[in-house]
Amino acid sequence: MPEKNIILTGDRPTGRLHLGHYVGSLKRRVELQDSGKFDAINILIADDQALTDNADNPGKIRDNIIQVVLDYLSVGIDPKKCTICVQSALPALHALTFYYMNLVTTARLSRNPTVKAEIQMRGFADEGLPAGFFAYPVSQAADITAFDANVVPVGEDQLPMIEQAREIVEKFNRTYGETLIMPKAVIPENAIQRRLCGVDGKAKMSKSLGNCIYISDDPKTVKKQVNGKMFTDPQHLQISDPGHLEGNVVFTYLDAFCTDEHFSRYLPDYANLDEMKAHYRRGGLGDGTCKKFLINILEETLQPIRAERAKWEADIDAVYDILREGTARAQEVTNATLARVRKAMRIDYFDDRSIIKEWEALLRK
Ligand code: TRP
Repeated sequence: MPEKNIILTGDRPTGRLHLGHYVGSLKRRVELQDSGKFDAINILIADDQALTDNADNPGKIRDNIIQVVLDYLSVGIDPKKCTICVQSALPALHALTFYYMNLVTTARLSRNPTVKAEIQMRGFADEGLPAGFFAYPVSQAADITAFDANVVPVGEDQLPMIEQAREIVEKFNRTYGETLIMPKAVIPENAIQRRLCGVDGKAKMSKSLGNCIYISDDPKTVKKQVNGKMFTDPQHLQISDPGHLEGNVVFTYLDAFCTDEHFSRYLPDYANLDEMKAHYRRGGLGDGTCKKFLINILEETLQPIRAERAKWEADIDAVYDILREGTARAQEVTNATLARVRKAMRIDYFDDRSIIKEWEALLRK
């Protein structure tokens, strides 16, 4: 097989995407898309994976497919350069998952740290663990290999999934001959971008905690989240008091979003974030000023995204066609991989009639 550079990445459509997604992956995807270094970029809306812990609520997944596509398009993911597709419409992924399940032990699946944490979080430890959820890393290996992806840009929490996929590829190729491409995870270099905390400083951003800023939030909501919920330094009571940066969420977000140009536009007292931080530490810089600066930066980031979203929201027909066409292209690619896999496993009985000769010879023995 010729060496190609192919990306697969994806999201579960369980909610609108937030600033954590934006700095941790969406921005990066647009850069990768515009780098011209890739032969194909595939973005999978993993609705089947979302169902593994939402079996009783398929309506939620159905509603969020459109939200997630709109989020993609509004940040600048270009459907001419990327294939955006829906997992449930790719039956090859289901077949691959079924074959790969035989190459993984339940003991190995039990050790997956991300799945372990998610089992706790979702209360499956007490209620009973759906087999589909337990096995979703196998289905994710199917996603990745079906597209022949060698590059998988993901958040840090996904590293165990890629590791598991790599083991499956190794085992498959060892058992059935070189067939699958070995994938590699790519995570953001910058620690803050890898894991942006919620506005309340909690490590996990979640809808139920109400601590996210969504990329589709309106200016009023953004302002409310920053002014009303964002933690600063609880010991910084008077403006003149020295301030602390550790655990100060406003500065965490500034670290993630602000550039030197933002200072000349909105806070010309400082040349850069280091100068601003130094003043905050010394005392004399108020939290209100810091928050106002952050709101200006977030608005500058989000305004064009909102405008782009509004355009697409006015033409859902076009969005639907993007998804349909992307999914059709993905069907071709993933079906071809499945055919190759079946051939390697020698279960391609109906691709040609050569097995008749084989069976006849066997019976003559
Ligand atoms: N598990 C990923 C998440 O929760 C979503 C996902 C599904 C994915 N299939 C994928 C990511 C394949 C990368 C590659 O965000």
